[in-house]
Order: sequence, then structure tokens, then C-alpha cells
Amino acid sequence: MKIVTIVGARPQFIKAAALSRELRKLHDEVILHTGQHYDNNMSDVFFLELEIPIPKYNLGVGSGTHARQTAEMMIGIEDVILKEKPDALLIYGDTNSTLAGAIVAGKLDIPIAHIEAGARTFVKDMPEEQNRIVADHLAKWNFTASEEHKEYLAAEGVTENVYNVGDVMCDGLLHALKKVKSTDKNIYAKKLDYYIPNCGTIDDYYLSTLHRPENVDDIKKVKSIIDGFEKLDAPVLFAVHPRTIPKIRELTKQKEYCNIHFVKPLGYLDMVFFTSNARKVITDSGGLHKEAFLMRVPSVVVLRSTGWRETLDGNCNVLARPDGDEIVDKVFNTKINYLKYSIMHYGDGTASKKISNILWQ
Ligand code: UD1
Repeated sequence: MKIVTIVGARPQFIKAAALSRELRKLHDEVILHTGQHYDNNMSDVFFLELEIPIPKYNLGVGSGTHARQTAEMMIGIEDVILKEKPDALLIYGDTNSTLAGAIVAGKLDIPIAHIEAGARTFVKDMPEEQNRIVADHLAKWNFTASEEHKEYLAAEGVTENVYNVGDVMCDGLLHALKKVKSTDKNIYAKKLDYYIPNCGTIDDYYLSTLHRPENVDDIKKVKSIIDGFEKLDAPVLFAVHPRTIPKIRELTKQKEYCNIHFVKPLGYLDMVFFTSNARKVITDSGGLHKEAFLMRVPSVVVLRSTGWRETLDGNCNVLARPDGDEIVDKVFNTKINYLKYSIMHYGDGTASKKISNILWQ
């Protein structure tokens, strides 16, 4: 098959790294980057370190309101589809790039393959939830990461061509862990020392990322969260997403935060290493809290709900409001039952191979 794959935001590059490797063994793939994420450390670094094929097209859409960003993507994607005439369009996850691809291919009657289908937070005002619902309902093939997600689709009447193949992010993570483990530990120790001078042992820190509009667009919430980080009993390595930077700049002008080490977004391999060694992760990233779970690192997830419900089993991950005191309480007082959860919900690292084979049939 000739497949046009849409990517645009950071988590999609990570998923594409895993799937493109398999897809290209059987199919002819053309990658289209919408340009939703464009900074070097939000985009280029992933293509380089994960050896993702360079996109044939980059729409350079950048930031904007949801409508403008999505509309601009749609115009560009339509031009590419009309030119390339693919047999299928492949989309990942739940971003505005996913939504734009789904609507354009749906209207042009190009079969859609949706990867990571069926995830639901049941919070309809989250943009990602809206994007997921549209993508799932327009897709010809829905590939779910867990059995539960398949059941959610069935409850919405989506039952044809739904395949629970496991999680492509799990495939990517296993690949990355091999690379990280074969890297000299001193390299990471030096990086940690650079980010958190005098950190002590290599695993004595918390790791945080925050970027959801509902958490970071209101400076009071950001202040409450980082004031909470100041009360933690180990330093916090905080990789700051571009959306969050202006608020952090303003707050650090008003007060010195001694326990927090603010750094730019990390590359994927560094992120995998620093997650695997963290005491706990505090994040609102869907991908990161699932990766932490797969590495058996507990998280406090600053979200109202998660599309990865299995990660809450045994309290491996717990949800918290964007409130510093609540986050600190959950970091200190959550009892984890390691016997009560299984990382096998998300497959065995062969999701990409299965997807490629199913599309071949
Ligand atoms: C998007 C996805 C979210 C995903 C996240 C991963 C949607 C609706 N949201 O959220 O599901 O978890 O990506 O990061 O698609 N910016 C830059 N440089 C960049 C990228 C973004 O400066 O390279 C800034 C811009 O100011 C922009 C803001 O970050 O306005 C938000 O970017 P956007 O892509 O709209 O949403 P994310 O919050 O990244």
C-alpha cells in the first residue's frame, strides 16, 4: 500500500519512530509533518536521534487557535493527498494534526488507519478527547493499545476492523531502553550533574513536565504547583514545555525556586533515562505517565482523568488536581501495590509489526 502518515506533535514522532521502521518493510510510506511542533527540541531532535525518515512534506503550520491551526493543516493535507493519491492515511493519537488528517481523508474517501484508537478520558471538553472521538469514528482501521480501549469503541458502536495490537509507544520504549542501557552510565551521570548540580546519587530526584492548557494557562495554578515542588524532599528536574515557559519566566522573576531545576524539553533517550531513574514522575503528559508506568516508576498525574486507566491499578499512577498541596500529599502518601498492576495491558512490543501486517492483508 501507499500510505501517507501524518505527524505534527512530539508524541507522534516517538510513535512514528517505532511504526515507520516496520511499515517500510511492507509498504510505501510518505511522511507529512504538519509543523504543529517546530522548535528544534520539540521536533528535529527526535528525527535525528530516533532515525525517523525525513518527512517529504512539512506544512510549517505552527501555533494558533485550535480552529486556525487545524484549518491550515487541513488545507495543506488536502493538497498532499490529492497529489500523492495514497491508498490509506495513517494518523496517531489525539492531537490537532490527527483531527485535521481524519477530516480531510474522511471527506476525500481515503481509508484511515488510526493508531492508539479508543482511548477515552470521558472528559469531553478536553481537546484531545474531541480529536480522538472524531478520528475513531472516521477511521476504517482502528488499532487499540489495550483491550479496554477496544471495549470503549464497541460501546460507541465501532466494531468493524478494530484490532487490539498493543501500544506502539511500548514498542518504541523497549527499543529506546536497549539503546539507553548500552550507553555509558557516566554520560548520563554527567548530564544529571549538569542539570542538578550536586544531586548526589543518580536516582535521587523527581521528574516533572506540564503542558496541558487546563494546568498551565492560569498562572495561579502553575504557582501553586511549583510552590508545592519546593516542599518535596528531593530536587525536581522540570523539563519545561514551550507552552509553560512564559508562566515559569514570570514566576521565577518573583521568587527564587531552590528545589526546582528548570531545563528545556529533553530528547527522547534522555527522557527515557531520567524517567527510569526518577523517584517519581509528576506530569500531565499522557505519553509520559504511561511510559513511567511501563518502567514501573510511580507518577502523580495532574489530570482530571486519564485515557490510560490501567496505569491507575495498584496506585502506580494517581490523579491530582493542579494544586501544590494535593500533589505533595500524593507524592508522599500514596501506597503502591506492585502486585495489583500489570504492564502487559499494553502488549509485548510487537504492535508495529502487527499493524503493518494487518494493513498488508
Ligand atoms: C499538543 C497536543 C497534546 C500533546 C502535546 C505534546 C493538541 C490539541 N494538543 O499540545 O495533545 O500532548 O502537543 O507536546 O494537539 N510551542 C512552541 N514551540 C513548539 C511547539 C509549541 O513554542 O515547537 C508553543 C506555542 O506557543 C504554542 C504552544 O506551545 O502555542 C502549544 O502548542 P500546541 O501544539 O498548540 O499544543 P501543545 O500544548 O503542545
